[in-house]
Amino acid sequence: MAAAGTIAKGQEAFPLRSFFRIPTERCAHSLGEILLRTLITGGAGFIGSHLCERFLAEGHDVIALDNFITGNRDNVEHLMSHPKFRVMVHDISEPIEFHELIDNVLHFASPASPVDYLEFPIQTMKVGALGTHVSLGIAKKHKARYLLASTSEVYGDPLVHPQTEAYWGNVNPIGMRGVYDEAKRYAEALTLAYYRQHKLDAHIIRIFNTYGERMQLNDGRVVPNFIYQALRGDPMTIYGDGSQTRSFCYVTDLVEGIYRLLFTDFHEPVNLGNPAEVTIKEFAEEIHKLAHSKSVYIAKPLPLDDPKKRKPDISRAIQVLGWEPKVGREEGLRRTMAYFQQKMQKTGKL
Ligand SMILES: NC(=O)c1ccc[n+]([C@@H]2O[C@H](COP(=O)([O-])OP(=O)(O)OC[C@H]3O[C@@H](n4cnc5c(N)ncnc54)[C@H](O)[C@@H]3O)[C@@H](O)[C@H]2O)c1
Repeated sequence: MAAAGTIAKGQEAFPLRSFFRIPTERCAHSLGEILLRTLITGGAGFIGSHLCERFLAEGHDVIALDNFITGNRDNVEHLMSHPKFRVMVHDISEPIEFHELIDNVLHFASPASPVDYLEFPIQTMKVGALGTHVSLGIAKKHKARYLLASTSEVYGDPLVHPQTEAYWGNVNPIGMRGVYDEAKRYAEALTLAYYRQHKLDAHIIRIFNTYGERMQLNDGRVVPNFIYQALRGDPMTIYGDGSQTRSFCYVTDLVEGIYRLLFTDFHEPVNLGNPAEVTIKEFAEEIHKLAHSKSVYIAKPLPLDDPKKRKPDISRAIQVLGWEPKVGREEGLRRTMAYFQQKMQKTGKL
C-alpha cells in the first residue's frame, strides 16, 4: 500500500473498493441506515448544484451553503423539496458553527469566471483565503473529509505542456488574474498544512475548464459566449487568432472524479479535466455547426495573461481514481446547448 500522499511505482494506488470506506463512527447518524451529511460551499453555483444532486442521489444529507454572489437560486430550485436538502445563506469567509455532525466538507465557493473575479477581486481573495480557513476549521472540528476545488489556473500561463501536478506553474501574482490564481494557490497550501499538521483527511482537485447545464449565460466564459452568440446568430467573438487551445470537461464527468477522490487516502492535488485539446477556432466551428448558426466570426485582441495552451495530464487521476472522462464534446455540447436554448427562450433572449 502506498504511503498517504504518494503513489507507489508500478502498483495501483487504491483498489476500487477503498473508495467506499465509510467509517460509521464518523457518520452523522450511525443507527440503522448509514447516513452522511455533506456540506457544499458554493452549492448554488454551477458545479456546486451538480454536486448537490450527486450527493443526494448517493443518499447523503446535503447542505448547500452559498452567499449567492455569483450563484443562483434557480440552480437548486429543483432540489428544494427534497427532504435531505437545504440551502444555508452565508458568506463562508465569515465564521460559522455547525451543531449537527458534518461528515464531508466540499469547498467550492468562489467566483470562478474571469468576468466574476475581476468584478469581485477582494471577495475572491477572501473566499480563497478566509473561506478556505473557515471551511477547513469546520472539517477539523467534525473530523470530516475535506475537498478543495482548486483550478488549472494555479499553473498560470504554463511553460510545461500538458500540465502534470508536479508543475509549479507560471503565475503573475500582480496581474489582473492574480486575485484568483494566487487565492487558489494559497488555498492549496493551507489545505496541505491542515493535512500535515492536523492529519485532516483533505483532498485537492485542480479543475480544468468544465462546462454543462447551469453555467451562467453571461459569465464571459467561452462555452456560454459561443453558444449564446451562435444561437442568436450574433457575431462569434474569437480572441487572438484562435490558435490558443483549451480542453473541456463535461460536468458529470468532473463530479464522478470528485466523488471518487473524496473517499480515497490520496492527499496531493489531482488534475481533473478532459485532455481532448481543441483550438478555440475549431471549438467555435463545432458550436456553429451544432447550432446550425448563421453567425459570422469576428476577431478581438487576446486578453492579458490569457493562457496560450491548456490541457491536463490526467495520468494521476487514472492511476489513483480509475477515472477518465466519458462524455464526448459533441454530446456534452448538445446537452448544454439544449439547456441554454430553453433558458434564453424563457428570458426572451431568443
Ligand atoms: N467551472 C470551471 O470550469 C472551474 C474551473 C476551475 C475551478 N473551478 C472552481 O470550482 C468552484 C465552482 O465554480 P463554478 O464554475 O461552479 O462557479 P459559480 O460561480 O457558478 O459557483 C460558485 C458559487 O460560490 C458562491 N460563493 C462565492 N463566494 C462565496 C462566499 N464567500 N460564501 C459563500 N458562497 C460563495 C457563489 O455564489 C456561487 O454560487 C470554484 O471554486 C471555482 O474556482 C471551476
